[in-house]
Amino acid sequence: MKKYTIYKCVDDKSFGLRAKSVFLNAVYGARFYPEAPEDLPRVVLPTGNTPLPFYSALRDMADDVPRFEYCQLDEYIGLSDGDERLFSEWLKHEVLDPLKITNRMIFNSAADPHSEVERIRDWYKEKGKIDVAVLGIGENGHVGFNEPKSQFHARANITNLAQSTISSNEAYGKGAIPKQAITLGIGDLMCADETILLVRGEKKADILMQALFGAVTEDVPASYLQDYQGRLTIVGDASALSKIPKSQLLHH
Ligand code: GLP
Repeated sequence: MKKYTIYKCVDDKSFGLRAKSVFLNAVYGARFYPEAPEDLPRVVLPTGNTPLPFYSALRDMADDVPRFEYCQLDEYIGLSDGDERLFSEWLKHEVLDPLKITNRMIFNSAADPHSEVERIRDWYKEKGKIDVAVLGIGENGHVGFNEPKSQFHARANITNLAQSTISSNEAYGKGAIPKQAITLGIGDLMCADETILLVRGEKKADILMQALFGAVTEDVPASYLQDYQGRLTIVGDASALSKIPKSQLLHH
């Protein structure tokens, strides 16, 4: 059986603190740190309910979080600046403004999506890979907006959202969810030096087990993690980890 570093956390507070400490180690250990601003570690952060205790823990030490460049993971297509459904707005308020992270590689939701995807791909060609990718997982195994059947080698691309993704994101209560999005591809995430997967809640238990120990298949996008060559850490709560063999867990 494959071995992963998996932290099981007893409550939201310890989840947030554990995720924070794994994240800080990753950022401090990133190859560029602490050189010039243009060489800051490139960090991907997820939206969703899962990371909220992590962001709260980061805000509690806002002035002491090392500088990094925030790189957007995914975004809906067709929303105007300032729309509260925008993931860029969500993260701006939740974490980027409080931490005073000014270097931001944001996707433009209102731009022509094809040109925007080209711009993002060119940016990564010029800059290189992601240093630290913090990710969540959808109930259908999506990462970012890489829905089932996304190709493991794909770079930034336009994606049609699964109906189940639209429904679960409507539950955030911010309004109707667009049908299309731009996402970094699994090919981009596969190249990251380090990945931290955050999982909370029993609704994620089955898909997490499948992703980490089931078949490696584009039907379960997160199963790419089994082929991932970078450093992978999973931080979860007891419900999300309930299907994972006990021998795999590091208790916290
Ligand atoms: C969204 C985002 C993902 C996120 C996922 C899980 O659709 N595109 O990046 O990881 O849903 O969200 P939650 O943590 O709310 O379950």
